[in-house]
Amino acid sequence: FADKYLQNQHWVITAGPTREAIDPVRYISNHSSGKMGYAIAHAALRAGAKVTLISGPVDIAAPTGCELIQVISAEQMHKQALTYAPQATTFVACAAVADYRVADIASEKIKKDSDVMQISLIKNHDIVADVAQLAQKPFIVGFAAETQNVEQYARGKLMRKNLDLIAANDVAKAGQGFNSNDNALTVFSAIDKIEIPLANKHIVAKQLVSLINQHYLLKHTR
Ligand code: PMT
Repeated sequence: FADKYLQNQHWVITAGPTREAIDPVRYISNHSSGKMGYAIAHAALRAGAKVTLISGPVDIAAPTGCELIQVISAEQMHKQALTYAPQATTFVACAAVADYRVADIASEKIKKDSDVMQISLIKNHDIVADVAQLAQKPFIVGFAAETQNVEQYARGKLMRKNLDLIAANDVAKAGQGFNSNDNALTVFSAIDKIEIPLANKHIVAKQLVSLINQHYLLKHTR
């Protein structure tokens, strides 16, 4: 089964946005639809991997055959990622994780009494960076969503978070990135730079999964 080249691998993939509650009816989030992460899960499954998909709230269905772990907040995603990652061969952080959470979540709906309102935020754990600190760590692929200086910022995250690969997308360009059906990626390793041109996220995911496996094999046969 040449097409089942991931048969003995277990991929853990984060996808979608996280939601950080402000009060019982409001939250802070972002425009991630889950499409990119779910397409990676689909492509890895098709290539024969066992797939655990840790997903924030999205409107799309998980691919048949994956283990779906649904979470809402970044801290919930962090907990699940650290539970599943030690058993994985490969960890792909495609989720758009909220960098901050609300310091004091109001237990009742906040009233609009004042004209100005302030919310204090606290930094969330960095999920992919914490996975990279595990004693028993998988091959780790991060994403970088940038609006400027894409290469410089992506390479900075690759080094700082101690990742094996990082897939950068320019989310300032129309028709790609957050919530669109298409994407284009530039994938960086410490020494390489590979372009995956603009295409449907399923096509991009198939190429990315194959590229990740090539680098995984290089690392493990050295
Ligand atoms: O879901 P779609 O609508 O299909 O859109 C896809 C996407 C644009 C969301 C996706 O391709 C993408 O770029 N995902 C990463 C978005 C992001 O949050 O990037 P970042 O540059 O802020 O984070 C860098 C890396 O650290 C990412 O791998 C992120 O998952 C990870 N991270 C960030 C913060 C945090 N607290 N924990 C993390 O693990």
